[in-house]
Amino acid sequence: MIDAHASIFDPVSPEARAISHLFVISLGICGAIFAVVAGLAVYSLARFRWRDGDPEPRQVHGIRRLEIAWTVAPALILVVLFGYTLRAMQVADRPLEGSPDLVVVGHQWWWEVRYVGTGVMTANEIHIPVGRPIAVELDTTDVLHEFWVPQLTRKMATIPQAGNHVWMEADRPGVFEGLCSEFCGTQHAWMRFQVIAESPADYASWQLSEQEKPAGMAGEAAKGGELFRSMTCVNCHSTDALTRLPAEGPNLAHFAGRRFLGARIVPNTPENLRRWLQDPQQVKPGAKMPNFNLSAVQLGQLVAYLENLR
Ligand code: CUA
Repeated sequence: MIDAHASIFDPVSPEARAISHLFVISLGICGAIFAVVAGLAVYSLARFRWRDGDPEPRQVHGIRRLEIAWTVAPALILVVLFGYTLRAMQVADRPLEGSPDLVVVGHQWWWEVRYVGTGVMTANEIHIPVGRPIAVELDTTDVLHEFWVPQLTRKMATIPQAGNHVWMEADRPGVFEGLCSEFCGTQHAWMRFQVIAESPADYASWQLSEQEKPAGMAGEAAKGGELFRSMTCVNCHSTDALTRLPAEGPNLAHFAGRRFLGARIVPNTPENLRRWLQDPQQVKPGAKMPNFNLSAVQLGQLVAYLENLR
């Protein structure tokens, strides 16, 4: 269920476009240099190879004009690349003025997402309105991670206690793949997320729905809710998007609306959730979620509860 791709050749923001252009221009220039150098080398090998009986070739000391040319030409190419690099930096790496719109915190191996204005907290899925630059402050609770949405942002490391930021923007609605691009342990490859860019109206209604408390539940789901509180799930996971508690594990508010489990490792279906609760290590080896050795009845109740958190 890959409903989006992550190609730097399909940029969807001014930031990503500047970086993509810089890459394509560098690639073109380097490709041309490679073709000229390799072409001359191959031509010389074929044309001027030594054959039996050839006399000793003419000995030359140097050609001044050629030496000037191959000094000046690379210098000019570097000036051009320098100009393009400065421009890409200006567009993609603007300083942060005032407070950020979003705080994203890297954890081994998932992403905590906090909206500064509303206090809404979520995990591994970032909703943004289209057409507006979003300032994202980056932090980490453990090791170095690197935040990257290839179609929307530059890469930026999350450094403990250092404070970093990145600008994110989407020109059109869509779902964009994000990932951790710095090795950070066992499940680095599955420290992924999605950015859901939507119209300002859709984004505003998403913000409002996140702030709603979950509806009361009955039957199996209500029993699952009691289990969730009594079995210490609440020590790490909140089901309130407006909580102020530190997040040990992903915030599960409105969990039923999440697309994936385990930072994108499997789609959020009742079957996959059951597998995850039964033995998290089997789904995502190394994940910090312990195995609670739940009975079949308990598993059913917890799945009913979580899949009713709308
Ligand atoms: Cu986090 Cu790699």
